[in-house]
Amino acid sequence: MALDPLLLATAVEAVLEAGATQLASLGRGIRVDKKGSIDLVTEVDLAIERRFREMIAARFPEHAVLGEEMTTGDRQVIPPGFCWVFDPIDGTTNYAHGLPIFCASLALERDGVAVLAAVYDPTRRELFTAERGGGAFLNGTPIRVSATGSLLDSLLCTGFPYDVHESVAEIVGLFGTFIGRSRAVRRLGSAALDLCYVAAGRFDGFWEQRLHPWDTAAAALVIEEAGGVVTGWDGGVFQSRQPNLVASNGLLQEQLLGVIHEFRARRVSGTD
Ligand code: IPD
Ligand code: CA
Ligand code: CA
Repeated sequence: MALDPLLLATAVEAVLEAGATQLASLGRGIRVDKKGSIDLVTEVDLAIERRFREMIAARFPEHAVLGEEMTTGDRQVIPPGFCWVFDPIDGTTNYAHGLPIFCASLALERDGVAVLAAVYDPTRRELFTAERGGGAFLNGTPIRVSATGSLLDSLLCTGFPYDVHESVAEIVGLFGTFIGRSRAVRRLGSAALDLCYVAAGRFDGFWEQRLHPWDTAAAALVIEEAGGVVTGWDGGVFQSRQPNLVASNGLLQEQLLGVIHEFRARRVSGTD
């Protein structure tokens, strides 16, 4: 069933507006609070999510909203029907430090399955969009994942969860393993952009653990529509409530999963 064009138009409008708000306050001494020892939220995150919720309530009052900063209740529950999954700033640590690598990320899920996505990076003016079955686009031009089939020739990316202090050895251990098996590994600080860069063929693969639906729901659809593959760490079909994710151009998926499984097996057996 074709989607109402107003849905994608709303998604694009929302992320473009979020980007304008992000840029207007970037580096301007905004209020920053801590949600945890290293997990930040700025007044801009809150203002953008508030405005987004007003927009959806006015246009689609029957739709649910799962936003990073203002959702109360169980975030794992998948509401029936349409649900907007929104990250007002993905890359908040970068944003709070004035580092221009961040975006707004928005997916529309129907019964837990993403049907459209919009991710906007205002500093590079890059808008990634996708509709299920309709392809993936960067500023309106179709994008495609890379054709790299060799892990040794691949450029990878990853990220670290906010509870990294509790598992530094494990996370850095896996990071180091991938460094030893690929051309290079990057850590940019915005999972949604990292994933869109896989979709655009800039990265060949990505892995991270303990992510949230607002980090992944939109960009996972962009990757799938660009010909790539997204799975959980068990290799099963990805769903945005799953915390551990591996994404690639498809050609590298089994190799990436293999490195993770090998690393975990070594840790369990105590040989690492
Ligand atoms: C974070 C970023 C980061 C990733 C973290 C996310 P936030 O989102 O995407 O790259 O490593 O796991 O939580 O807090 O900036 O919206
Ligand atoms: Ca995020
Ligand atoms: Ca965020």
